[in-house]
Amino acid sequence: MHSSTLYAALALLPAVLAAPALEKRCTGPGVNQATLSLIESFEGYSATPYSDPSGYPTIGYGHLCSTSSCSEIPYAIPLSDADGQRLLQSDLAVAQNCITNDTGSCVVLNANQYGALVSWAFNVGCGNAASSSLISRLNTCSENTNTVISQELPKWNKSNGQVLAGLTRRRAAEVSLAQTATSAGALPACG
Ligand SMILES: *[C@@H]1O[C@H](CO)[C@@H](O)[C@H](O)[C@H]1NC(C)=O
Ligand SMILES: *[C@@H]1O[C@H](CO)[C@@H](O)[C@H](O)[C@H]1NC(C)=O
Repeated sequence: MHSSTLYAALALLPAVLAAPALEKRCTGPGVNQATLSLIESFEGYSATPYSDPSGYPTIGYGHLCSTSSCSEIPYAIPLSDADGQRLLQSDLAVAQNCITNDTGSCVVLNANQYGALVSWAFNVGCGNAASSSLISRLNTCSENTNTVISQELPKWNKSNGQVLAGLTRRRAAEVSLAQTATSAGALPACG
């Protein structure tokens, strides 16, 4: 090794050691069509604001609003179909990034397993996903991925402390998507 290269490598070492093990700065890949269809069918679509089963104001494909009129979204209401798709894509990007960032580089997910987890994170929120036993079990990289998914996902059947039949069905659909074999890979997305 050329000595200047060695010095450059040593200079980088402290920065590498200081980085938290799971912190990745990498954009989550997009989900496949099967995932998009699952999310769209469970969220349903509304061009105008409505209250979700737990009473939260919602618009488009399950976009949670911060005001009851959803006036904070950057699109005209009633939403056009094209703006509804844009809102879904921006919400999906958040869920894709959080599943990608929260999983260690030893976690290997195919496109259907990844899509199932993105659907779940989209639904339960990135904070809940990040602190879940599902993610921490995946990050041990010592268990079968579909075993972890099929044991952990169904636990997420409650909203505001109440079991909702729609959530039980959605979790079952996500488990079934994850268990559908595919050769298309999703994670790891970067080194
Ligand atoms: C994950 O990483 C992406 C890409 O750097 C970043 O834009 C995003 O904010 C991160 N998301 C989370 C939840 O940390
Ligand atoms: C909801 O999840 C809990 C925790 O996993 C489980 O014990 C319960 O049977 C589930 N309820 C339904 C109706 O599936």
